[in-house]
Amino acid sequence: MEKFVIKGGRELHGRVKVSGSKNASLPILFASILTGELDLSNVPALMDVATTCDLLEHMGFAVSREPGRVKVKEGEVTPEAPYELVKKMRASILALGPLLARFGRAKVSLPGGCAIGLRPVDLHLKGLSKMGAEIEISHGYIVASVNGRLKGADITLDFPTVGGTENLLMAATLAEGRTVIRNAAKEPEIVDLAKALKSAGAHIEGEGTDVIVVEGEGELSPIVHSVMPDRIEAGTFLSAVATAGGDVVIEDFPSETLGTVIDKFKEAGLEIEELSPSEVRVRKRQRLKGTDITTQPYPGFPTDMQAQFMAAMCTADGVSVIKETIFENRFMHALELQRMGADLKIEGNTVVVKGVERLTGAKVTATDLRASASLVVAGLGAENTTEVYRIYHLDRGYERLEEKLKALGAEIERVPSELKY
Ligand code: EPZ
Repeated sequence: MEKFVIKGGRELHGRVKVSGSKNASLPILFASILTGELDLSNVPALMDVATTCDLLEHMGFAVSREPGRVKVKEGEVTPEAPYELVKKMRASILALGPLLARFGRAKVSLPGGCAIGLRPVDLHLKGLSKMGAEIEISHGYIVASVNGRLKGADITLDFPTVGGTENLLMAATLAEGRTVIRNAAKEPEIVDLAKALKSAGAHIEGEGTDVIVVEGEGELSPIVHSVMPDRIEAGTFLSAVATAGGDVVIEDFPSETLGTVIDKFKEAGLEIEELSPSEVRVRKRQRLKGTDITTQPYPGFPTDMQAQFMAAMCTADGVSVIKETIFENRFMHALELQRMGADLKIEGNTVVVKGVERLTGAKVTATDLRASASLVVAGLGAENTTEVYRIYHLDRGYERLEEKLKALGAEIERVPSELKY
């Protein structure tokens, strides 16, 4: 086990480059099940990417990995995703649609809940059933099969689920006939997945809107694609400068996918200057002022930026009302921020933050991926030393974060943790 030791109070200066998107890489890697072959570049070196490659290998695919690139070739495939791997990464559920569409059967461990919520997959299963899949749950596994091929269907999602949209979109590319997904999620990662699928000959329209139309194909050719930049990592760097201060140029910054996040940080008083469509200069030239956010499906304020924005608001002047509407338990970081002196109150799905002069360093524990990012951001601006435990959560979704922050002037070290839990 490792921890971060952060000496707060250093401003950030210099240039940093955003890595490829975790939440685009994962579905696109699973899409290799549909095509049998994939050559993916700008892939971030993350635990979740490694887990996905492990799962593909477990199923019988040949996976070759080099820095920033993953190639997949089909072998003798067993369409199963075991508990041991799925419990490491809930996104393994994204194997279900592709396995069913390509092999007509799948056995995927039902992802349990996680720290931020119950995370059911009922909408994934309902949609696949509408496409002709027979699905049962037995001994903690989803056991699914279809006679012949999946059939195109007209599916309306009760909620614009990101993973549900991705599973159904992938399944539809090899289904017989037309599939329409209504109330589809519009996240940029879905647009990137569609781009990758189109590189393999898939017929998709409407990605990025709430109605996606897919004409199924008999087979697809290899995927050749470069992953979009990670908009949440990019937003996390905005939070870091907003909290620690400084003047940073962020390269490969996907401005067009971060509209609401940029607007909110500007409203709080952070200076964000667009140098080009993929490069911004962010400067903190004054104390920020409290700003309210409510998380929403895209293009609203992303739930994956809620924790990092809260950390920045802890030392803004005035009150910030932060409302979480996507997950039912995504405030664990608030309890840890309180231990660093934050003045905040949790009221159901809302946290009311009252800005304080400065946070004080403390020993804090990460509980989930974005909570860990939030605690690192808070530590950068806090007095004295902050130690963040259980940073394996962070390693799931951030590539070499401490190295990137150190290069900007932060005093942050990754060291062995004396705690064994
Ligand atoms: C994706 O998770 C992301 N993960 C999450 O990022 C992100 O927070 C989330 O989308 C929302 O933007 C990946 O892309 C790998 P959902 P996903 O299905 O697909 C409910 C991170 O930090 N729901 O849109 O699981 C669900 O309970 C991670 O990078 C159902 O009720 O999100 C939740 O409350 C965390 N039934 C809401 O919808 C279903 O069948 C959003 O879930 C599916 C979802």
